[in-house]
Amino acid sequence: MSECPARRAYAAPVPTAPQIRPATEADAGTIRSIIRQAQLNPRDLDWRRFIVADDGGQVVATAQVRHHAEGTRELASVAVRSDRQGEGIGRRISEAAIAREPGRPLYLYTEGRTVEYWGKFGFREIGDGEVPPDLFKAVRFARRLIGIYSAVFRKGYRIAVMRRDEP
Ligand SMILES: CC(C)(COP(=O)(O)OP(=O)(O)OC[C@H]1O[C@@H](n2cnc3c(N)ncnc32)[C@H](O)[C@@H]1OP(=O)(O)O)[C@@H](O)C(=O)NCCC(=O)NCCS
Repeated sequence: MSECPARRAYAAPVPTAPQIRPATEADAGTIRSIIRQAQLNPRDLDWRRFIVADDGGQVVATAQVRHHAEGTRELASVAVRSDRQGEGIGRRISEAAIAREPGRPLYLYTEGRTVEYWGKFGFREIGDGEVPPDLFKAVRFARRLIGIYSAVFRKGYRIAVMRRDEP
């Protein structure tokens, strides 16, 4: 007996677009686990600065803007759960995080392979001389870590710093 088409349509999963919202304290553990899975910097993950992509109650992506000692704003911790990458969620959460910091330059540092991704959002790679001192401390630390990692695992990883100015 063939299945009723109307019933099949009813039973099919309906794709949903995750909602971008500010994080709550209840999201703190999931934020940490998504960041860990993405192998991003696990330090300085205060949920109060985060926005998340929430798909029916499940957090599937994260982003935050860090405020450094002298006021430099850094977009960080942009990560999409590995089983949800390639659906446009990274684009939506990146744009939402950028939109929360209007009227001032936004910086980020990233491994060299994602420079192209950030170019899509108006970020341009800058030289070390253009990096604000409060951010440069974090960049130096990240470079030390990635230098050790690259040496141990024979990888050619590098840390690039990028800036986005309001168009
Ligand atoms: C990088 C990352 C955030 C992208 O999220 P995503 O949801 O898979 O990306 P999207 O589906 O929204 O793609 C947006 C655009 O970026 C492109 N893109 C996705 N990943 C890319 C990558 N690694 N390099 C270059 N471009 C990339 C897509 O082709 C798409 O381009 P288009 O809009 O012109 O078609 C996600 O792969 C991730 O979490 N990676 C691990 C953590 C990480 O590297 N974070 C970034 C550094 S902080």
